[in-house]
Amino acid sequence: MKICVLPGDGIGVEIIAEAVRVLEALRSDGVKLELEYAQLGGCAVDATGSPYPEATQKLARAADAVLLGAVGGPKWDVLPRPQRPERGLLGIRKDLNLFANLRPAILYPELANASSLKPEVVSGLDILIVRELTGDIYFGEPRGITIEDGKRVGRNTMIYNEDEIRRIGRVAFEAARKRGKKVCSVDKMNVLETTQLWRDVMIELSAEYPDVTLSHMLVDNAAMQLVRAPKQFDVVVTGNIFGDILSDEASMLTGSIGMLPSASLDENNKGMYEPSHGSAPDIAGKGIANPLATILSAAMMLRYSFNNEAAAVRIENAVKKVLAQGLRTGDIWEDGCKRVGTREMGDAVIAAL
Ligand code: IPM
Ligand code: MG
Repeated sequence: MKICVLPGDGIGVEIIAEAVRVLEALRSDGVKLELEYAQLGGCAVDATGSPYPEATQKLARAADAVLLGAVGGPKWDVLPRPQRPERGLLGIRKDLNLFANLRPAILYPELANASSLKPEVVSGLDILIVRELTGDIYFGEPRGITIEDGKRVGRNTMIYNEDEIRRIGRVAFEAARKRGKKVCSVDKMNVLETTQLWRDVMIELSAEYPDVTLSHMLVDNAAMQLVRAPKQFDVVVTGNIFGDILSDEASMLTGSIGMLPSASLDENNKGMYEPSHGSAPDIAGKGIANPLATILSAAMMLRYSFNNEAAAVRIENAVKKVLAQGLRTGDIWEDGCKRVGTREMGDAVIAAL
């Protein structure tokens, strides 16, 4: 298994170290790993001037999977847009054709009190957000800031073609088949033609999946329903921008965005795996960041890219065990639990393996 490791910026470095240690711990059980490190984001800009430099492109393309920490930080926010770390992230997603972003939001029973919602609203929560990742207003042309009639005008283009919608729809339907057999497609068809097409294509596609129930929801209502009654959802499929927003919202149902892994897959299950959270510059370098989202991302990597369900489940069970033991990083800490740092959390997961 050839893995391209991209620690990135901020807490990325610390949390990736723990995920790698967890993977290394599986090595003795016959999981064969080849790790190659490269730079993405702000660190890459500092070293090469580009957020997704050629050396990284080469390694990422040649690898079977990419494991990413996080990118970005205030230091680079002042740079011209093409040199910003976020551009590196969008660049690698597009370059590797990672159109399917899977963001599970699972509430571990031990963390029911860490959610800002009432425990009964979130207990047992298990949602999968399937976000389209290489299209929509994120990449649509024309885009930019221009001067028109003496005024500055900002422009982006929301655009999807039917093939793009169909292929992400398939990912959602297939995923639902292995879970609760429900897909809720989120759009804004009452206003936006792009998403009228989205809805039409989802309805056409659903004919191929008679065993899965398809429903539709407007994005504003979906945002509301996610905090009102989140357990009504099984698989949620939506476009890039809506998925960006709804997945952050869903993450808080689980108590902390520090718990949420993600997988971004191409058509052949080559994937990039990263926590759903960012680089958290405010706590970077302090050794207090929660490494669990990244460790759980490594589990997703074993599952989707390496077809090693057993190893994935081992990691996930180890995380559950550590939570049951009462170990918590600051973001999920509550009275009566033991507050631990990044490294200690990694140690505990490895011990629990
Ligand atoms: C995410 C992030 C990125 C996105 C940013 C950092 C470009 O918010 O992965 O959700 O908007 O996709
Ligand atoms: Mg986001």
